[in-house]
This record gives sequence, structure tokens and C-alpha cells, in this order.
Amino acid sequence: MGEMAKLLLVEDDTSVRTTVSTFLEMEGYQVEVASSTGAAFKRLAEERFPIVLSDIYLDARTGLDVLNEARRLNPDCAVILMTGRGSMETVVSATRGGAFDYIAKPFDLDTLLAVIRRAEASLEAEDEVAEENDLPESEMIGSSAPMVELYKLISRVAPTDSTVLIEGETGTGKEVVARLIHKNSGRSHMPFEAVDCGAVASSLLESELFGALRGSFTGADRDRVGLLEAANKGTVFLDEVGDVEPGFQLKLLRFLQEREVRPLGANKARKVDVRVISASNRSLQDQVKDGKFREDLYFRLNVVRVVLPPLRERHGDVALLAHFFLKKYNEAYRLEARFHPSAMAALEAHAWPGNVRQLQHLVERMVVLCEDGRIRAEQVNASLQTTTELGITATGSLADLATEQIRRVLDATHGNKAKAARILGIERKTLYRKLAKLTE
Ligand SMILES: Nc1ncnc2c1ncn2[C@@H]1O[C@H](COP(=O)(O)OP(=O)(O)OP(=O)(O)O)[C@@H](O)[C@H]1O
Ligand SMILES: [Mg+2]
Repeated sequence: MGEMAKLLLVEDDTSVRTTVSTFLEMEGYQVEVASSTGAAFKRLAEERFPIVLSDIYLDARTGLDVLNEARRLNPDCAVILMTGRGSMETVVSATRGGAFDYIAKPFDLDTLLAVIRRAEASLEAEDEVAEENDLPESEMIGSSAPMVELYKLISRVAPTDSTVLIEGETGTGKEVVARLIHKNSGRSHMPFEAVDCGAVASSLLESELFGALRGSFTGADRDRVGLLEAANKGTVFLDEVGDVEPGFQLKLLRFLQEREVRPLGANKARKVDVRVISASNRSLQDQVKDGKFREDLYFRLNVVRVVLPPLRERHGDVALLAHFFLKKYNEAYRLEARFHPSAMAALEAHAWPGNVRQLQHLVERMVVLCEDGRIRAEQVNASLQTTTELGITATGSLADLATEQIRRVLDATHGNKAKAARILGIERKTLYRKLAKLTE
């Protein structure tokens, strides 16, 4: 399938060039070669290479020039430099120029392969960041009665400085609401800082929120401003606050009472002015009853409570949301998919345990995969069957994914595997395994 990264190899020594390119091709890479900086510059101008592998001493120009040109044309490009005459100076300039890595010749081919694999992994990580950024920020679709009630509540609460607790099942739009509240408040021009308390290791949560002075713990090599301070005059969003460990719950409580932060290692506290919005997909009150969440903290967070209704209780909104996402993904992928009336009926009949997020992923997937530009009930039902509520397919059904489908999705996403995996409804690791099999 040729979906492994495309590489440009710049090397003037014919035997090294042949050995390296033959080896990498056998490993499944698509390799293009250039034997001079001139040829390399020409290819770089013509095409985006995610990875460039270049010798340093070439001709009138060097691998450092290749590095600069490659990164100028494509800032995400991972450039790996190789040389037999390495010096401190070249290593320093390579690092300064943003080289991904630097290897000394002679190297064994497995070392080279390991470096390339690391470069690929870092590119994938960047893909993922890009993916997160393209979610709508504060657009709320829905005109059902419970949503109208919600809008009324948000518009009343937003302009005040009150602390808000947002509850609702997964995928109901809690983060969207938090951003909407901020956007409609007097703080809208100040920062909105979100922290996912469930994802940050509790040992790091303190420095993440309160900051740390240089040297205050191992690994703290410079002062770090905590999010509470970074959000000064703005809003801080404590997502998944129910996951905060008991020890840290007390620190949060203190903060809410005193509105002061003392970075780790600092001896003075500073006043901050932030509005606190928190969210949880489980009832915090139940957590209090189970003894997992401090009641005093719960009272501090729950000044105003906003409860998001599950999608199955929003009559009429499924159709609105489905059309909204249809338009969004048609535009994103330059397609013109449409719903057949039977599809809409199938969508409306579903219970949506993963709520809006599940519907969003399903529509994205169907837009990309539908064969003749028409999305029909059969496709809806088939897609619903293979995905769980979070949009991830059980691994077993991977065999059902036709190569053709994978190819279509990779085409639509321009080879972005993180995105492709999401649309296909499989985990990224699974997609890699599948791709590796196909290239065997
Ligand atoms: N009413 C809505 N209109 C448009 N898009 C929405 C709406 N509600 C949610 N979304 C979209 O659905 C996805 C999930 O929303 P969000 O991240 O806010 O959910 P959540 O309640 O925080 O879920 P979780 O508890 O799993 O974190 C996002 O891509 C968001 O943009
Ligand atoms: Mg969320």
C-alpha cells in the first residue's frame, strides 16, 4: 500500500546510497535518492517528504543547507543527518537547525532503522495534536426543549463569575459548554486554560496547576508557571474533576477558599483571579456518597450546576447534528455525501450511548466511506454494529475492514494515520499492524 513514510535520501557516495536505499525499501519505505544538494533542493521543492536523510559533506553546499531548506518548506519534516566527519560544531549547528537526529558513519543499518522509526513516531504524535485542534470550539447545535433550557441557563450564568460544575454522560458536550460560558463572559478576551485531571498523573497535577520553581523537583529544569496563574483574569477548566485523588482534593479546596497559588519550591503565595469551571461524567454527589470525593470540595465546585442531557433525550437534535457534521466533513474532505431518508430514520432510532461524540465520529466515517455519495440505512446500521459507544471497534471485526476502505480513508486524510484510525473506528496500533501486513 506504500503508506509508510516517504523518504528522501541525499548522499553523494554511490555505494552508501545504494546500500541504504535498498535496505530501506526492503523495510517497506518508499525511498527517493538525490546525489547532490542541487537535486535534493529540486525534489524538496516539488514534494513534501516527511523524512529526509542526508549526508553532511556533499558539494558546495552541505547537509546543513539541506536541513534548512527542508524545514523551511515543511516545518514538520524530520531531518536525520549522517556524517563520517562529525565535530562538535556540526552537531551544534544541526541541533540548532532543528535536525531530528544525527548519526555518525559508519553506522549499522539497524541503528538507522531505529532512528527512522523514532522519527515516524514523532510525526504521528504531531498528527494527533493536529487532530485535536480541529474540533469545533464553542459551537452548540440543538434546538430540543432540554437544550433550549440549557442555553437559557448558560446565558444567565456566563456573565457572572460563579463557579460552575458541568455534569453529563460522556460525549454530551461538557467541554463545549465550558468554552461557551467563558466566551460569553466578561473574561472572554483572557485565557481559557483546560486541564484534564484524569489524564495528568496526580504527582504532576500539583506543578501543572500551581507551577514549580526551577530545581524544586527532579526534572524541573526551569520555572514553570502553573495553569491557575496562566489563567489569571480568565477561566480555568478542571475536566474530569471526579478523578482527583483525595490528597489533592484538599489542595484544590484550599485554593478555592483562598484563591492563592504557591508554586512548588516557592515560599510566597500569589493571589490569582480565575473563574473555575469543572466537569465530570459521573455524578459527583454519588462520589461523595461513596466516600471518594470530599463533600466540602463538592460544595465549593457546585455553586451552579449545569447538567447536560443525553442525546437520546433531545428530540429532533440527532437530525440537526447529523446534518451539521455532514456539512463539516464534506467540507473537510471535499466530498458531497448526502443522507438517504432511510439513513436519517436509522440514526434517529439509535440510543447513542456515546452521545454527540459518537454521532460525530459515525458521520465522519460514513462521509468518507460511502460509495456513491449516498448514505443509506444499511451503512448506518453496519457502522453502528462495528463501533462501540466510543467509536472504537472491537478488535475482532478488523478482518471485516476491506483494504479498499482503508485505502479510501488514507486518501481522504492525506495519509494521516491518527485520523484514519479514528474514522475507521479502530485503534491506531491496530491500523499500523494492518498496514504492516498489507505491505508484507
Ligand atoms: N451540541 C453540540 N453541537 C455540536 N458539537 C457538539 C455538541 N456537543 C458536543 N459536540 C462535539 O462532540 C464532541 C464531544 O464533546 P465534548 O468533548 O464537549 O464532550 P464531553 O461531554 O466533554 O465528553 P467526555 O465526558 O467524554 O469528555 C466534540 O467534538 C464536540 O465538539
Ligand atoms: Mg470532556
